[in-house]
Amino acid sequence: MKNTLFWRLCAFIALGTVLLFWALSWLTNHTETSMSYIAPEHQQQLLKYGKQAEDILHREGEAALASWLQALQQKEHTWAAVVRTNITPFAGSTIENQYLERFQMGRSVEWKIHLYFEDNPTMEIPFSDATSHFLIRLPQRMRPGEFLMYAKVILQIALPLILLSILSFVLYQHVMSPLRKLENATKAFSEGKLDVRVAPYLPERNDELARLAATFDHMAERISKLIYNQRQLLADLSHELRTPLTRIDMAVDFVEQNINPKQALERLRYEAATMRNLVEDTLTLAWLNNESPRLNTDDFDLVELLDVICEDARFEYPDRLLTTVLPANAGITQSSQTALGQALENIIRNALRYTPKGSEVKVSLTERGSGYILVVRDQGPGVPQSMLSDIFKPFFRVDKARAADTSLDRTASPSGFGLGLALAHRQIAAVGGSIKALNYFSKKDGNNQSSPQGLEINVELPRSCPSNGSF
Ligand SMILES: Nc1ncnc2c1ncn2[C@@H]1O[C@H](COP(=O)(O)OP(=O)(O)OP(=O)(O)O)[C@@H](O)[C@H]1O
Ligand SMILES: [Mg+2]
Repeated sequence: MKNTLFWRLCAFIALGTVLLFWALSWLTNHTETSMSYIAPEHQQQLLKYGKQAEDILHREGEAALASWLQALQQKEHTWAAVVRTNITPFAGSTIENQYLERFQMGRSVEWKIHLYFEDNPTMEIPFSDATSHFLIRLPQRMRPGEFLMYAKVILQIALPLILLSILSFVLYQHVMSPLRKLENATKAFSEGKLDVRVAPYLPERNDELARLAATFDHMAERISKLIYNQRQLLADLSHELRTPLTRIDMAVDFVEQNINPKQALERLRYEAATMRNLVEDTLTLAWLNNESPRLNTDDFDLVELLDVICEDARFEYPDRLLTTVLPANAGITQSSQTALGQALENIIRNALRYTPKGSEVKVSLTERGSGYILVVRDQGPGVPQSMLSDIFKPFFRVDKARAADTSLDRTASPSGFGLGLALAHRQIAAVGGSIKALNYFSKKDGNNQSSPQGLEINVELPRSCPSNGSF
């Protein structure tokens, strides 16, 4: 998969170029060779001249042949002659008959002509008795290779240009078609089509450009999720703000009409504080969602932190029993005491809130591997099995009716905005931990999920928060 495109381009260009050169050189040679032979009708014509010369010599004699030759030279604008073979070896040399038979003064009409020689070659047509030969310098009109120049221009310039253009076009298409898809997707995404993805359009590719498409899709997925979450958060926030705003309107009316003004002012203050908390919590959640930060500036003892939280909680819920099973100490480094404190406080308060009066909430901390496991178990109604992961979504409440409770006494009421666990989930993630919820069943119930004995929240925390990867 790595550098696939690079190797593909290398192979394509290198092989393509070698093949192109080979094909061009083969074509040039082939064309040149096929153009180097005298055309068959001209070969016939030359042979005919030879035959005519022989006939005239035999029938009419040398004088007639001389005037025929004269006429032929004028007609073909060339030189022609008839000669006798007279090879006379000397200095004791002998020539075998086979060499004498093959002895040639000029070129046979079937032979290849050298197109690069400017002078036309002399052609030889032996008489049937092989002692005389008709010789003629190839007439210009019969010279082959008339179109050699054009063929060369086509083969050496036009054809390579066309083939290289096709090669470049194929390469361009190979690289550009996914880039064009990416460009269209980016354009569509920037115009608000958040569900546009590129990878499904490139199923057959697994190279660098496919990786680029996957990175785009990953980015689009993340950004669209963020935008969706933000929209949802904003919609939920505006919805949640309506109730305190209505109450504020009512309280202002009461003050104006002087109906129980003291209680109305108290309500005003309370609703203002509620709204501030709601907005602050939402902004914190939006920040944690967007940035996915690593909060790792504090070193502290988790046991001390839990002691403080439990002490406050006991004070707030004196009618519930909050028991702890904690080790002597549990050091944590590179974490965030504030974020973790808020998250754990939320979990413990939830447990106390949903546990009936007089019942027990148990907080236990144990060491495991390179971190700690914190278990908060209550004796409340638990959460429907299908909603166990939903309770970590912002503004989610199992029983929305409870949230509509207009009571001023928030400690006595189980209502809330449904932000606590959403915040806790992201705060714990920001210090490198994880959280999950499960219903707790008593042993005798076994797996009978219809009657949970309470909710158990498990938090896994590392001793030291791992830092985020960087570029
Ligand atoms: N211990 C628990 N037992 C039963 N239900 C719980 C428990 N903890 C949370 N839940 C359910 O999960 C929902 C979300 O909890 P979360 O802490 O996010 O919100 P909240 O407590 O309703 O409001 P907030 O924490 O913003 O004041 C709650 O509304 C409740 O329905
Ligand atoms: Mg809560």
